[in-house]
Amino acid sequence: MTQSAAQAGTQVTPNGWSAEQIRADFPILTRRMRSGSQLVYLDSAATSQKPRAVVDAEREFYEQHNAAAHRGSHQLAEEATHAYESARADVAAFINAAPADVVFTKSATDSLNLIAHAFASATMLAARGHSADPKFVLHEGDNIVLTEAEHHANLVPWQELAAKTGAQLRWVTVSPEGRVRTEELQSLVDARTRVVACAHVSNVLGGLLDISAFGIAAHNVGALFVLDACQSVPHMPVDIGSTGADLAAFSAHKMLGPTGLGILWGRAEVLAAMPVVDTGGSMISHVTMEKSTYLPAPAKFEPGVPAMAQAVGTGAAVRYLTNLGMSTVHKHVQELAASAVQQLSEQQGVRVLTSPDAAPISAVSFVLDGVHPHDVGQILDDDGIAVRVGHHCAWPLMRALGVPATVRASFGPYNTAAEVDRLVESVVRARRFFG
Ligand code: ALA
Repeated sequence: MTQSAAQAGTQVTPNGWSAEQIRADFPILTRRMRSGSQLVYLDSAATSQKPRAVVDAEREFYEQHNAAAHRGSHQLAEEATHAYESARADVAAFINAAPADVVFTKSATDSLNLIAHAFASATMLAARGHSADPKFVLHEGDNIVLTEAEHHANLVPWQELAAKTGAQLRWVTVSPEGRVRTEELQSLVDARTRVVACAHVSNVLGGLLDISAFGIAAHNVGALFVLDACQSVPHMPVDIGSTGADLAAFSAHKMLGPTGLGILWGRAEVLAAMPVVDTGGSMISHVTMEKSTYLPAPAKFEPGVPAMAQAVGTGAAVRYLTNLGMSTVHKHVQELAASAVQQLSEQQGVRVLTSPDAAPISAVSFVLDGVHPHDVGQILDDDGIAVRVGHHCAWPLMRALGVPATVRASFGPYNTAAEVDRLVESVVRARRFFG
């Protein structure tokens, strides 16, 4: 174990908390698993665990304030509206954004689909002579630039958009060592590029991408830069406006919040120009039988009764993280990840898959020579250790790395250095077991 990782588990951080202390806020972490072992939860990149404050906030909303937000004028409806909009303000403050630029969706996947569908809508509207902002209109022969490291949620919606519009999909490749070849942007991005999209942090390799290069490449040619911030916002301070992104997506459930709520952030002028996709109540300013006009963002992207309790839980989650201090959370998870990389790399027959130029923020992927990741996962599960095994919704990246799947351990603020040690012990056991 590295000294810094040893400290990470037990030492009180500059913000006055230790992982050992805050574990008491997460009831699930006391669970004993099938084998009798205490749970070691190392799957926060898939979904994080929830502190009592989040579950309590949702329960309190249902027990005391439940009514349909933005509808009705009775007291409960006012309270529900206030709770929902306060949550938006909390999320906005968390990423240093204006509340009006924060749209609540169903998930990060939903946010990314919404963006791609908006391009498709604008393209169809323009083709039929309706007004549509040219930034969102694609023509045959335009192109969309991604990376080979994308999660399917930031790939498949763009494939569908390309098929619908005749645009071409292009991508920055990843080397077998896990390096995102950012320099390829120079030859990929040209005057016909309308969108550049990438992950802030790879959900497999765990490291930061050079997003400023992607943002600059997009803006040099007047394209929009779309950022998948799912694996960064939960683990590090993110000032979303400073990322260079025009639009960004992340999800509540990966940052200690509830499932069922995603966030779409956009620059005010970009959200104003972006056409609506889903329509219905609550997002309109005027309706006749012939046509409708829409409210400004965020309302124009939030038809229907919203996920109020989930938003309230998300507000509680970002307040909890803010109290921990995101710089401290960042340092803590990075130290755990660094310790995991170091210790696993020292084991014979273990190949750690990180980008050579980007140390993992929270997620560490590895494979064992000659042993399928699912078999490794089985041994770890027998030891009470929850990791994700498989392709992590990133098939093209698996091919680039030359592996069918990986084992991925990912950390949250509640993980300790002792848990990293348990992971490594279990991996050693798996290696011995499979000879
Ligand atoms: N997107 C999540 C992951 O990478 C589910 O595991």
